[in-house]
Amino acid sequence: MRTCHTVHELRATLKTERLKNKSIVFVPTMGNLHDGHMSLIRRATKEGDIVVSSIFVNPMQFGENEDIERYPRTLAEDQTLLLENGCHYLFAPDALEMYPDGKRSQTQIEVSDISNILCGASRPGHFVGVSTVVTKLFNIVQPDVAIFGSKDFQQLKVIENMVRDLSANIKIIGEEIARAEDGLALSSRNGYLTPEERVIAPSVYQSLLNAKEQILSREKTFEEISEEAQKKLEASGLTRDYFEIRSQHTLKKPTKKEKDLVILVAAYLGKARLIDNLCITLN
Ligand code: PAF
Repeated sequence: MRTCHTVHELRATLKTERLKNKSIVFVPTMGNLHDGHMSLIRRATKEGDIVVSSIFVNPMQFGENEDIERYPRTLAEDQTLLLENGCHYLFAPDALEMYPDGKRSQTQIEVSDISNILCGASRPGHFVGVSTVVTKLFNIVQPDVAIFGSKDFQQLKVIENMVRDLSANIKIIGEEIARAEDGLALSSRNGYLTPEERVIAPSVYQSLLNAKEQILSREKTFEEISEEAQKKLEASGLTRDYFEIRSQHTLKKPTKKEKDLVILVAAYLGKARLIDNLCITLN
């Protein structure tokens, strides 16, 4: 696997692959890779010829009160994992390479409506940072296919909408959530949990499973189900952010006829903000 640190080097390298008519599959990440990321890389090897990943801890998607310096950086370990799982090229730029004039004077991409609800409401500006950096990475890598984890369900929808709205010729794939044996969705942020918090954390997934059962039994309103779930999470020691039942397609409150639902949860546990989701189709 070759690591490129500059846009120029990566473009020149990928040009030779494109001249050989190779298709390019891209997996953008912020590093500190775990088995969840590796499931994306393994999927990428099945979707095309050349697998490109990126590691960039994007300052534009962190809020003023979110400590970007604390975000774990583990490049050497990440490179080993990527190589072992079939990645061909890694793009690992620094902030100056991505934002030569600083992030404040950077042109921004904002995907309307969907960027300001749910996680976007709790983390103002977050999705503008994500859409902007992903657009830049897409322009640098020019992939045929790009793969994102479904744990960040709203991020996946933001990117799908962005690609549609900007007529980008990229197929977006959402890969299934990778979970630990006890159900906790794999995330770099799980590393912030103390051993005691790690024992509590699977209650987030449990709350989704309970809500799914309650939706299917149709005995309670969505509001009642959500409120009950948040109270239970609080009783387990988590602090509420949101627990919502939404349309899988728009992330808006579902109409009475809506069949494709998604249950989305975000809650704080110690220093970690945990998010998870579960899709459900009614018949
Ligand atoms: O999901 C992530 O790791 C990041 O939000 C992404 C898509 C790599 C953009 O920085």
